[in-house]
Order: sequence, then C-alpha cells, then structure tokens
Amino acid sequence: MNVADSQTVSAVLRRAGYVSAERAEDADVVLLNTCAIREHAEEKVLHRLRELARLKQSRPEVKLGLLGCMAQHNRVAIMEKAAFLDVVAGPDSYRRLPEMLGRAGDDASIDVRLDRAETYADITPDYGGGVRAYVTAMRGCDKFCAFCVVPYVRGRERSIPPSDLMREVGELAGRGVKEVVLLGQTVNAYRFGDTDFSALLKMIASIGGIERIRFMSPHPGDVSDSLIEAIATEPKVQPHLHLPIQSGSDRILAAMERGYMVAEYLDLVARVRAAILGVALSTDIIVGFHGEEDSDFEATMDIMRAVGYDSAFMFKYSVREHTRAFHLGDSVSEEEKGRRLSALIALQEEMSLMRNRAMIGREFPVLVEGPARRGGGMMAGKTPQFKTAIFAGDTAAGVERVRAGDTVNVRVDSATGHSLMCSLA
Ligand code: 5AD
Ligand code: SF4
Repeated sequence: MNVADSQTVSAVLRRAGYVSAERAEDADVVLLNTCAIREHAEEKVLHRLRELARLKQSRPEVKLGLLGCMAQHNRVAIMEKAAFLDVVAGPDSYRRLPEMLGRAGDDASIDVRLDRAETYADITPDYGGGVRAYVTAMRGCDKFCAFCVVPYVRGRERSIPPSDLMREVGELAGRGVKEVVLLGQTVNAYRFGDTDFSALLKMIASIGGIERIRFMSPHPGDVSDSLIEAIATEPKVQPHLHLPIQSGSDRILAAMERGYMVAEYLDLVARVRAAILGVALSTDIIVGFHGEEDSDFEATMDIMRAVGYDSAFMFKYSVREHTRAFHLGDSVSEEEKGRRLSALIALQEEMSLMRNRAMIGREFPVLVEGPARRGGGMMAGKTPQFKTAIFAGDTAAGVERVRAGDTVNVRVDSATGHSLMCSLA
C-alpha cells in the first residue's frame, strides 16, 4: 500500500515539475513515506530520520518531509523529535505537496487532514517497471479492529470508480504489465454504486493483455459467495486467498472485535477450498494481544495446524495509541510474546515446507518476473498460488531463452518453505 502511495506522490510531484533523484544525497527534497501499524515500523522511521538530519546539516537547503500513516498518527511527537522537518503530510494530503514544498519560511508545513472524498482516482501513479503492478482499488477502513490504527490514520473506506480502474489497468496492459494486484485495506469491501468486488474482478478480467489478477488484502468477513465464485470461475483471478485470522481463540477474536468466530472462519475456509481448485491460503496472526493466555495461544497453534496455511505473516502485538484496545494496555510480557512468536514461526515453517513439498512432481504455469536473486542464470516467477518458482532460464540446446513477462510451464523438482525449485516442463 505504501509503495503504491509513494507512486502516487511521485506522480503528483512530477506533474509539478519535479524529477526523481537516484539517491537522497543528490536530492533537493527527501520524503519518507511511513507506516504506523506497529511500534517497530515507527522505530525504523525515527532511525532513518536521524540519518536524514545529518544530510540536512550538511545541506540546509534540502527539504525534508514525513508522509503517510506515522505523520498522521503522531504528528505532535514527531514535530517535537524532528524539528528539522519541513513538511508533514498525512495519506490524504499528497495532492497539496507541491504547494507545501513551495512555501518559503522556516515553519514546517503540516497537513494531516483526513478527507473522506480523496481517492486520487484521477492521478495515474508512477508505476515502476516489471510484469506486475499494484493498483489501489479502495482506500481507508471502516472495520475498527480493536488493535489497529489504520482506520484512524487512513480514514473511512472509499472506493475508486470502476471506470478509473478500467482506464488505469488498460494503460498498464498497453505498457506490457501482465499481472495486476488490486489493493485496499479491506479490498473485498470494495463497492462503487452497483459494482461490488466480484463484479470489479470480472470487469478487470475483461481487459486484454492482463493475464493474472490478484488482490490484497481481503477481510474474511467480506468474502461473499460471489467472490468465491469469481475466483473459482474467472481464469485470470489467481487461486490464492489471504484470510487474516489474527487469533485462533474466540475469546481473543471477540476482544479484537474482528467480527467472526473460529467456527465461522473454518466454515469459510472449507467453502473456499471446496470451490477453488488448488487454492493457496495465507494469513496474518498477532500473538500476545491483551489478555491472551497460554490456552488462547495454543488455540492459535491448533488453528494453524488445522488450516495448514501456505504462508503467514506473524507479529507481536504492539499497543497503538488511539485504538480501542489502547486503554487495555499490554498484559503479555515482551519475552513471552517473543516465545510465542518463535513457536508460531517454527510451526508455520513446517507447514509451509509440507505444503510446498506436496507440489513436487506437479506442473504449474509461471509468470516470469526476471533473473532470480541467487543469480547463476536462474529465473524467478510466481505460480498461480503466488509461490516463488526458481528455474534455469534455458534448457538444452535450441530452446529460446525465457524472458520476463513470458508464462512458462515448470515442473517442481524440490521445495523449501519459501520457494519451489523447478525445471521447464
Ligand atoms: N500489533 C501487531 N500487529 C498488528 N497488525 C495490525 N495492527 C497491529 C498491532 N497493533 C497486523 C495485523 C494485520 C497486519 C497488516 O498487521 O495482523 O492484519
Ligand atoms: Fe486494521 Fe482491521 Fe481495518 Fe485490517 S480490517 S486495516 S486489521 S481495522
């Protein structure tokens, strides 16, 4: 989401005549786009700000700006800690950045108003190169999970008109993009007039040149039968569903105000697996939420075993100011959170390995993204299930070299928990 937002910021500034510099050291303006989801994210930003302060000391004319959720979340504390900031802009203020940067004077220009209407629908982001593009379909969130700061820093849910999305994805297809990932905090809550998310998926699927469609991040409570049907029947919509469960304990889920219980969630998983052939499932988990006892954590471990996710993002609970759970505080020690997180990660690594090993011997179409990080002439791409496939870019004599953007069939030879080692089929 922040990568996509930075691309919007880049487009806003380019329109105003700015060009991008390769390195912060060469720039006249340095903007940090920030995340406030956990304390750790904020610590990283403060560390980077201290580095940039040194840059500003040697070149006082450089304008420094802090953008995004952290700017929105704790603007007061930030201004106290970083008096050298010239601009502080929240997620709905990017349109005004040229004006804010252009202002003379020593006082920082601060704009952290949230705007229910701002979707940047008319601004085509500066998409990077590559076969995949991330396209924001909706902004904000109305769910107010007790632990989460997002609704406070990104404001209310609003969807981008389908016509703008169609135009944008059409342009991307024209530039050689093969895969779009529709983005939103609760992307499947998308609704514009009569167009719900499943209808949007079908519309996007009608665009020639786009071969694969994914979306991130859905909310389990908004997975409708028509969405399951759209994934199952529309060949371009890839068989991977991210279903953040957060906890396997009903008591904790209720305290988190997630809006579902474990049994409902498992019923959803069963319906998804019955309808979508070979679907991969991933999830998000928080350990150590206020009040989480050993038995609640064990319930989370049980659910991980029961579902068998292909992958998971796992986090220690981080108390966030402004959220509903803020006043409850932190009942689980940092040490205990660490223990729980390690146990969960170890379990998930086992599960990921098991799920990936089950692919050995099978064939998949892979959208080639480019050379694999490990080099050696190896290429990398994703299977429909969003698993990383690594394979030699050419076979024996006579076979043309595989290029980014191609879709090739590969057979899985071996697997780790993180990738599939394959050969061209
Ligand atoms: N502490 C830890 N993890 C959090 N997340 C959201 N808020 C918090 C928090 N306060 C996690 C959730 C969410 C993911 C994007 O970040 O698991 O799904
Ligand atoms: Fe945060 Fe819950 Fe909204 Fe996700 S659905 S962004 S966890 S409030």
